[in-house]
Formats: sequence, structure tokens, C-alpha cells
Amino acid sequence: MSEQTSSSTYPSVNDLSLEEKASLTSGGDAWHLQPIEERGIPGYMITDGPHGLRKTAGDTGAIDLEHTVPATCFPPAAGMSSTWNPELVEEVGQAMAEECIQEKVAVILGPGVNIKRNPLGGRCFEYWSEDPYLAGHEAVGIVKGVQSKGVGTSLKHFAVNNQETDRLRIDARVSQRALREIYLPAFEHIVKTAQPWTVMCAYNRINGVYAAQNRWLLTDVLRKEWGFKGIVMSDWGADHDRVASLNAGLNLEMPPSFTDDQIVSAARDGRISPKQLDDMAQGMIGLVNKTRQAMSVEDYRFDAQVHDDIARRAAAESMVLLKNDEHILPLSKNARVAVIGEFARTPRYQGGGSSHITPTQLTSLLDALQQRGIEYDFAPGFTLEDGEQEQSLVDEAVNIASKADAVVMCLGLPEYAESEGFDRTSLDIPAKQLELLSKVRESNANVVVLLSNGSVVSLTPWQDQAKAVVETWLLGQSGGGAIADMLFGDVNPSGKLSQTIPLNILDDPSMLNWPGEEGHVDYGEGVFVGYRYYDTYAKEVAYPFGFGLSYSDFSIDNVSVERTGANTACVRATVTNVSQTAGAQTVQIYVAPGRSEVARPVHELKGFAKVFLEAGESKEISIDLDERAFAYWSERFNDWHIEAGTYGIEVATSSRDIVERLDIELEGDGKSLPLNEWSNMSEWRKDPVGGPIVKRMFEEGRDGRIPALPENNLGAELFLDAMPINSMSVLLGKDGKVLTQFLLDEYAKETDGLH
Ligand code: BGC
Repeated sequence: MSEQTSSSTYPSVNDLSLEEKASLTSGGDAWHLQPIEERGIPGYMITDGPHGLRKTAGDTGAIDLEHTVPATCFPPAAGMSSTWNPELVEEVGQAMAEECIQEKVAVILGPGVNIKRNPLGGRCFEYWSEDPYLAGHEAVGIVKGVQSKGVGTSLKHFAVNNQETDRLRIDARVSQRALREIYLPAFEHIVKTAQPWTVMCAYNRINGVYAAQNRWLLTDVLRKEWGFKGIVMSDWGADHDRVASLNAGLNLEMPPSFTDDQIVSAARDGRISPKQLDDMAQGMIGLVNKTRQAMSVEDYRFDAQVHDDIARRAAAESMVLLKNDEHILPLSKNARVAVIGEFARTPRYQGGGSSHITPTQLTSLLDALQQRGIEYDFAPGFTLEDGEQEQSLVDEAVNIASKADAVVMCLGLPEYAESEGFDRTSLDIPAKQLELLSKVRESNANVVVLLSNGSVVSLTPWQDQAKAVVETWLLGQSGGGAIADMLFGDVNPSGKLSQTIPLNILDDPSMLNWPGEEGHVDYGEGVFVGYRYYDTYAKEVAYPFGFGLSYSDFSIDNVSVERTGANTACVRATVTNVSQTAGAQTVQIYVAPGRSEVARPVHELKGFAKVFLEAGESKEISIDLDERAFAYWSERFNDWHIEAGTYGIEVATSSRDIVERLDIELEGDGKSLPLNEWSNMSEWRKDPVGGPIVKRMFEEGRDGRIPALPENNLGAELFLDAMPINSMSVLLGKDGKVLTQFLLDEYAKETDGLH
């Protein structure tokens, strides 16, 4: 590459005509940037994502979801998020980039880090968590991994795309606090730590404004506050007003609506400023330049077998062992096993919609058992269509179950039941599968259930019938091998839930406002999403956030917490594998705020570490907690705020399994707002300047210099505390006015020049 072409500013936007600049702000076709060949700007391909490459075969300019080139299907985020292993996620990212290089794809569209606000959301399988800390700290691995090879990512869908119902138009009405604490932090963390080369804006509106036209979101927050350096593209068809979007900070409309002339005329008549157009177009040149090197590699072939192995390792860490009564798992290698369920032969390994890819190979559980030389009987038990149960399938399944030592039942959601494009209406798996489970259970008590689904399903109605339940999510192309390894103990399950499994969907805090009505949805639960709600309000759940068993047993000792600054801390602990089996434990750190001016969740995840341990081995872990770990978003300050006081630091193995809790005292950030006549007495008392003035007011009242307020009267104090000081006259008539003025005059004297 010549020195000139490697520069992110070549060619400069100053060398381009107005028409050329405008042309850079929309795609060439459904999957390509618009080239300007004579200026040396190629029309590179950008395509899905997010858990493997989905590139249209043949005419690559068309939208053809059916025919795509073979690519490794890694576990979708539903699975990968349960690994709690960002390094592994990064390896997957590197592998995906290699496939992009072979296929000459400059940007892969993902990861998608929207919050799983409600488990019925149709794209929960593609998203990472109900918790923004976990989502950001895992998905960042994809961005780092892909971009380390010179290929771009597109962090999507920015922002607040949490449902499929009416997704192209819905107005998500969210408080500033919930935005900052729940819906934006995963994006924020990834932007600040990994600088994705592109961000994809969402379809929906946020507090009335389409994401594509939302200057507050795309410019003020993303670029100015977080320092984003890349370009923003629209989701496919999300740009409804080229001029408004470009002014808001959208660099690229995808796919093109062939309306670049609108940009040209708006630039001519001043509706778009020259600087804004230059910035947007220069961003596009910068993106092309970042990818030039990788896109100029010729005849590159990725190693499909190596990538399949990575997919298998990722699948192995994605499985969550929910229950294992009598240590039925792992199964003995000599056990006579009946395998029941169509999913064993026809795995559900990825979700439906724009992320659907053609795998390079596919290993079902039956394939994997054969490869291992395991003898088994198989009965499909049910079909994957939405039809009636067939009695002959039940009879066959019961028959093989009755002759087996153990039964492995593969249950879950068929493809028709969940996908991008629509939300589910129930958490239940199809009734015919559950009827089959009851019948099988009657003939064999040793039932192991393997679940395949992209978002949680109800377990309560049936889990008593199984001795073991493993949530395998959607495991990608190599899931069959990973499951077989886990069943027979060659893989020790280490996944942890990134999503709470509720007892009943009606317990979910968002259900009062799901999925909205008349074009809008109110996020009435505020920051109380998922476990933040269940744990704060002590609601029983089927399995808590962060939960997952292992074949090993672990202990966590020597827990200590040390302040490292006014509002930061470091947590240390020793994790030991106290069993005979190598395995991994994920230690989770939750911060529990003490008394607060605002309603805060009882605790929130602020750190984690996955520790791999041989039998008997111990390791020290240390996890830093930065200021953000303790802060809430204050709508009053329009900023993060750390209150002084006591905070609990919980060292845990799930949000409900707290191993140890230690308290620390923080100094707080000392922020305060100027007091005025509308501040109430309680605010005056607590303020560093106002507090002493209030004391003086009482003293001078006692001495008779000004009117006296009632003292040692709790009722009156509480009453006064709640009143803005300009209302004191309501209680005290003219005397009240005198006191209000006293407070304001004294405050003015003391703060002269400060506020
Ligand atoms: C999806 C995006 C996807 C795009 C291109 C949209 O419908 O929401 O996630 O990247 O299509 O396929």
C-alpha cells in the first residue's frame, strides 16, 4: 500500500465535488458502499453479522436471505453471552474477520448489544444480556477481535431497539436515567474501549425522534461525549429523511434510496452546512481507508476446520447446567442411552432473520454421538412443525426410553416460534413436547433435558420431571459435538445465565408496558430491568441471573475490599476448585448502594472474572471497581453522581448466591446544586453551605432576633423538611416570610461568586 492511500484523510473531502461528497453518504446497493472510482474510492462490501458472515452468493448487490456463501456459524449471542469469557469472544471475532477477508467484506454488521428488556423479544437470541455491564464487557470481544485483523464492525442497533413489534416505527419512551444506566452503557463501553469503525442506528424512535434523525444520540452523546471516531450507518431502511439524518450525524444511508440529489440541493440552499456534509463524507473516506489493507489481500483462504474448532469451544462454554440431581450428569460412557427429540437430528443452532447464515458444516448431536462411537437408540418424538402430536412418535419414544439406563431429551423452540421480525407471546415450549416428556418420564426416571432456544423458556411446569436440565441455547454449527462432550464429561459446563429465567412471564417488570400501544411503548420500569427488579423486590424466580452449575465444586475465600481512591475500590478473593474435576467458576461482583436520594436496584453487576482451575487448584483474582461502578445518572445534575456513604460489595456466583458481602465507605463526588427558594428544608439542611445557615436560623430564633421555629417536634420537622422554603408563610404567616428571606440572604452572602 502506498503511503498516500494508507492515510485516513486521503483523498481529502476537499478534492471532491459537491455531488461526489453527497454520493458517499448513501450505499451503492444493498450491501456495498458507493464507489468513486476516479478518486480512488472503492465500493467495498458491508454485510451481516453478527455471529458469522452472511454474504449473499451470486449477485452480491441483491437482498437474498436464502442463498449465502458458506461461513462458520458461531454460537449466536444467546449462547456466547453465557460464556462470561471475553477472550473467547475475541477469538471468535478474529475468526469472523478472517472469513470477511476471504470474502472481501470490509465491515461485518454486529455485534448487537441491545438490552433484553423482556424475554419475549424476538431478537433476544442476537442480543447479549439483560445487564448492560455484561453485554458491553462481553460483546467488546467481537469488536476487538474483528478489527484486530483490519475488518470493521458495526455496533448495533443504536439505540433502544428492544422489541420487534412495530420495530420500524415504535416510539420508545425512556427516562434519561434508564437510558444512561440501562440502554446506553453497553454501547458506551464498547465505543470508549474499542472504537468500532461503524455504529448502526436503530429503526425505532427514542422519546419521539427516529434514531437516524436523533442529533442528541448520534452527535452529542456518541461523538461529543463518548469520543466516537467512526461512521454511523442506518439500519436497513431506517433513514426516512436524508437531510435531517445527515444533520443529526448519520454518515451513511443503507440501502440507498437513490436520493443523493436531496443532499446536493440541501447543501446548496443551506439546509445542510458545508462543514456537516464534509464531516459526514470524510468519515466515509476514513472508513474505506481503514479497510483498504485487509481488502487488498488476494487469494486468502480461512481454515474452516480451525474455525469449526473455535465454534465448538465457544459452544462448550455457552451451555448452562441448571440442574443436576443425583449427579446424573455426566453420563457413564457405558450407559445405554435413549436420545429423544427431533432437535437431536435436526439441531436448532441459530436464529431466524438477517443473521441467518449457511454453515460450513453442521454437527448434530446424533452425528457427534456416532463420531464418539456411542451406542444409542433414537426416536424423534415430535415434529418441528406447529401441528398435532402423532401418537406413533410418542409410542416409539416411550418404547426406547423404557429400555435405556438414561434418556436424553432434546426439547426447545422450533424455528417458527422465535425470530427477528416478531416477538413471542409466551415463554412456553410447544405442548406436544411437554406431553411427550411426561410419557417418557413414566417409563424412565433418569431424564436429562437439553434445551434449544434463543431466549428463555418456562421451566416451572415441567422441570421436576427431569433430573438434569441443560440450557444449550443456540450453539452454532458445532454444538452437537460440544453437547456430546458435556454429556459424557469431556467438557465441564461453565456457562452462567446472562438472563433471568422467571417463574412466569407475568412477573416480568416490563409486562405492564409490553409491547406498547398506538405507536409507543413506555419503559415504565425505569432502571428495574431483569434481576434489578426481581432482586430488589424479592420476587421468586426459576433461575437467577448469573446462575450456572458445574461438575466441579468451588470455594471462594480471603475476600477483601480495599479503597483505591475517593470513589474507587479493588476486590480480591481466592477461588479454589475443591473437587476432583477440572472446571471453571465465574466470580461476580455486585455493588449494593446504601441509602440513596433516588430509587436504586438493591445491587448491580459491576465486575466478573471467569477462573479456570485444575482439580484442587487455587487462584487469586482481583477486580477493580471504577467510579462508574457506584454512580447513578442524576436527572437533576444531568450527569453521573456518586453519593457519599456506605456501599456493599458482594462477591457472588449468581445474583442470588452471595458468598460474602463487605462494606466500604465512599467520599462521594461532592456535587451539589445551588439552593434557592424552591429548595425544601431537607435540601437546605443537607447542603454544605445551607446546613449551617439553617442551624443559625434556629439559634437566632431562640435568641429572639428572628421568629422562632418549633423545635423538638418531629412531626413539625418532617412537615417542614418536605416544604420548599418559599412555603413557610403557609405555616407561619408573615414570620415565615421573614425566615425565608433570612435563609436566602445568608446564602447569597456566603455563596457570592460561587454559584
Ligand atoms: C436488521 C439489521 C441487519 C440489516 C441488514 C436489518 O433488518 O435489523 O440487524 O444488519 O437488516 O441485513
